[in-house]
Amino acid sequence: MADFPMTRRAFCLGSVAGVALPTLAGAQSFPPLTARVTHAQIAPEGYDPTEVWSYNGGFPGPEIRLAQGARLQRTLVNELPAPTSIHWHGIRIDNAMDGVAGLTQSAVPTGESFAYDFALPDAGTYWYHAHTNSMEQVARGLYGALIVEEDSPPDVDRDEVLILDDWLLDPETAQLDLQFDHPMALSHGGRFGNLIGTNGRYADDLKARQSERLRLRIINAANARIFVLRLDGLTGWTVALDGMPLENPEPVEGELILAPAQRIDLIVDVTAAPGEQATLLRAGDDDAWYAQIIFDVTDAAPDPARDAPAPLPANPRMALPDLAKATQLEMRMEGGAMSGLRSARYQGQDMDFRALAQQGQFWALSGQSGMGDAPFARFSNGEHVRIKLANDTVFPHAMHLHGMHFRQIFADGTFGPMRDTILSIPNEPIEIGFIADNPGKWLLHCHMLAHAASGMTTWIEVA
Ligand code: C2O
Ligand code: CU
Repeated sequence: MADFPMTRRAFCLGSVAGVALPTLAGAQSFPPLTARVTHAQIAPEGYDPTEVWSYNGGFPGPEIRLAQGARLQRTLVNELPAPTSIHWHGIRIDNAMDGVAGLTQSAVPTGESFAYDFALPDAGTYWYHAHTNSMEQVARGLYGALIVEEDSPPDVDRDEVLILDDWLLDPETAQLDLQFDHPMALSHGGRFGNLIGTNGRYADDLKARQSERLRLRIINAANARIFVLRLDGLTGWTVALDGMPLENPEPVEGELILAPAQRIDLIVDVTAAPGEQATLLRAGDDDAWYAQIIFDVTDAAPDPARDAPAPLPANPRMALPDLAKATQLEMRMEGGAMSGLRSARYQGQDMDFRALAQQGQFWALSGQSGMGDAPFARFSNGEHVRIKLANDTVFPHAMHLHGMHFRQIFADGTFGPMRDTILSIPNEPIEIGFIADNPGKWLLHCHMLAHAASGMTTWIEVA
């Protein structure tokens, strides 16, 4: 097997040249998701297209839509000038398919490929994105929606996937700012864009009919921005969070908060009249409300007034952790600008804040900055776990656990909904609980991707 790398290399160059992928021993070929450089019209008409990194030449990447229980089988073909890998965010996945370069697989070098093949146990709204140098690669555009359909989907007229993002573009050339690791972004709130849009565009032209019932699958793909949303000319219910159905649909009253990587599924009825607009509004930094998505209401649909939607069918394996017997841990989130972080371990060494900053590290989780050799914790398969997340920083963080969903545990011992990403606010400790029932090495990190890259990344192991 000494010549395997060369053989593999030749095979991959072949695929780059457009030759069909042959099947090597141990390597499957499925429909490709080819990561490559392309251009997309993100900024309004009149501006140049923006150079982005894409899957299959589109931005966002192709929507992948499969039935619950099906297998997702796609081969990542890397035609980028950098190594990459794909993470399937929110999927309770086979660990080897989780896509985390350096933990669950090696990054796929330029010209090579990797076959992803895994089951989809849960219906819901998920997404996929690069998980090699994700601070840069997600900002460059490497993401798409992953929709797993229920056996019996809810009664709606239409299903709209809305991927929210912001892009940091040069206002003259409309090209991405390529300094992804700016120390100001790393040590403060992260990389914020100056152009905010949906589905890879500054503005999209959507239409709707009065009384139409829509399912909106809203995904926050931004590196750092927390979206605060409101409905206007639409009324409805939240039916799922982070892919997982709520036991009871919850009427939308007031604001919806969507931290980076979180998803929210709404079922909404269009109340705006023909000629008016139904709008998903977003709070601006100046506290004014801006249109994130506008539906132009064309006419009235024939079938008005429906009952509130039934809950979405529950996903399997949703047991609650037993708090009395759960292993209790605490994770201290520390660092960033204006913090009291004096020192942390980084790459096996104790470093003070200055030395850490020189390494581009600004954050720590319980005294460890970035991935240590040892996991934050090891659990046995089936162990019940509760982890207190203490945010000792002055910034919010969107903490994401791979491979398993968790629930917030409230002070009175009740549980919040199932989530894979939770927003943590400074000085408001929250506790999460879950049953560690998916074996493997799973990242636990902040989804403000600049924070993840500069210290707020750790992992747990379930064996
Ligand atoms: Cu969506 Cu480790 O991330
Ligand atoms: Cu963070």
